[in-house]
Amino acid sequence: MKGFLRRCFGVLLCAVMALGMANVSPDMRDPVRAEEDLRAIFAMDFHGSGWSSWSPDNRRVYRTTSWPVAMKVGLEGQQVGMTGTVQYEAFITGTGWTGMRENTQVCGTEGGSATIEAVKVWLNGDLQQHYDIYTMSMVKGQWNHWVKNGEATNETGAGTHIDGLRIAVVRKGGTPAENEETGTTFAGRTLNSGHPMVALTFDDGPGPYEGRIMDALDKVGGKATWFLVGNLVSSYPSYVKRMADSGHEVGNHSWKHENLSKLSADGVRNSILKCNNAIQAVIGRPATVVRPPYGACGGNCTSTLSGMGYSPILWSIDTLDWKTRNASSTVNEILSKVKDGDIILMHSIYAQSAEAVERVVPELAKRGFQLVTVSELAAARGGMTPGKRYGAFR
Ligand code: NI
Repeated sequence: MKGFLRRCFGVLLCAVMALGMANVSPDMRDPVRAEEDLRAIFAMDFHGSGWSSWSPDNRRVYRTTSWPVAMKVGLEGQQVGMTGTVQYEAFITGTGWTGMRENTQVCGTEGGSATIEAVKVWLNGDLQQHYDIYTMSMVKGQWNHWVKNGEATNETGAGTHIDGLRIAVVRKGGTPAENEETGTTFAGRTLNSGHPMVALTFDDGPGPYEGRIMDALDKVGGKATWFLVGNLVSSYPSYVKRMADSGHEVGNHSWKHENLSKLSADGVRNSILKCNNAIQAVIGRPATVVRPPYGACGGNCTSTLSGMGYSPILWSIDTLDWKTRNASSTVNEILSKVKDGDIILMHSIYAQSAEAVERVVPELAKRGFQLVTVSELAAARGGMTPGKRYGAFR
């Protein structure tokens, strides 16, 4: 199946195929959980320590020394043509239910201190016909029982709050696996936060060299972040799908490389949403991070991104690969400057940049750097606050 998708040359063909699949009766399919199947991802903002990394489906996220103040939930593996979103709300001590949020929107008092007493998580659209979503919360060190499809995870107004969550999506009528998922999933891999990390980032794709770059990263188990231009996404769906399937981070670089500083708030929002829609059509979920083109995020840009839950992601090493078009120059720029926590800017649309990656990646690995995504780096260094600009995570 995956092999076939990779051979799809146009989004149209993929879309037609996926629509066809959506009409297959669920019990006609392989009962084993398919890699392409719908999964939840979720993260929580903990008082004093910031956002957790995105957790894969059916894994516990909790703290014993802090408490969550906000949460966000998304989906992976949503089939093209199947409508629906994940929606959720939280009961905040002192103010009550927040009202509905959906698809990775922040729910709760980010950066605040008010506790969450309970949450409700549910699916809508076609998704609720085909899947159940289960949620479990930890209260006073004990995990409650699973509840499903919008039931509250805990009693409210009883003077208790949650310390953690576990969220799992299953085919309609199924039950979540008792043991937590341990397989490698988006941002769910195990990293050593005590060892140096660096985030390679590639702007302005997708283009013809993504495969070469990913092959080079695969050899050392490295992951990168790809800030994609929305109107190019449908030209290279197989590369974009490969990024998402293999644990790279898919980021948003606007719809058509606009200077977001010069747009109205609506203009910024539309550009980001349009790019997210193009990404979602291929990988089933929107981008997790945003880099404004030219690194320009004045005017309405930062406040609009912040309102959408994003931070402008900038860089600490600019290789100038687009200007020099010289692989040796790019390699030297990186190796002479790189240090723990850097975000390195490259562009995936030049052959010389792909060559530079093939040369620099083994050397970075040899020097002990873990090649991580921006969200992994952020999670290992205290998380991200929407609206704050980040050029590195030290
Ligand atoms: Ni750019």
